[in-house]
Amino acid sequence: MQNSNPAPGLLWRLLFFTALALLLMACGSSEKRRNSVKLSQYMVAGMTLYQQHCANCHQVDGKGLAKLVPPLHQSDYLKSLKPNDMACQIRYGLSDTIYVNGEMYHQPMPSNPRLTPLEIAEIVTYVKNKWGSEPGLYEVKKAEKALQNCK
Ligand code: HEC
Repeated sequence: MQNSNPAPGLLWRLLFFTALALLLMACGSSEKRRNSVKLSQYMVAGMTLYQQHCANCHQVDGKGLAKLVPPLHQSDYLKSLKPNDMACQIRYGLSDTIYVNGEMYHQPMPSNPRLTPLEIAEIVTYVKNKWGSEPGLYEVKKAEKALQNCK
């Protein structure tokens, strides 16, 4: 019988690594689950904040207001706008001449000095995921850092 099982150590090692792999998989998926719960929380809060602070101008559907307010929906500008730059733009506003889908815009966008970094992170997450085709969470920690380094 001893001979038919020449390497019991191997069996144990195999068992050990299988258990380890299972454990790692379990941790990985709960991490993912936590992140997706957080993402949905940011999306829900971001939607409400967007409706309060942005939709007057950009409209609930993100299509903007004719030649005065640029669209977010299918905006080439938004697609290439970095989340950190967007956070700064929300807090400090924007008064520049910009081109969105080939149209020129130059009305100023007002600042939002009262929005907290968390609220700004939620709005960026919502707008970016809804219209910017950049799925994922923009966390409050990133927003805090970005807001300290706005140009
Ligand atoms: C009073 C109207 C107004 C409000 C409120 C407003 N915006 Fe804007 N937004 C503008 C205008 C006007 C521009 C163009 C600014 C320029 O030409 O310098 C703009 C530009 C932008 C852009 C870049 C161009 C694009 O369309 O991709 C983004 C992104 C944006 N706004 C997001 C937001 C978000 C998010 C909020 C809410 C926190 C918000 N805006 C609130 C008027 C507004």
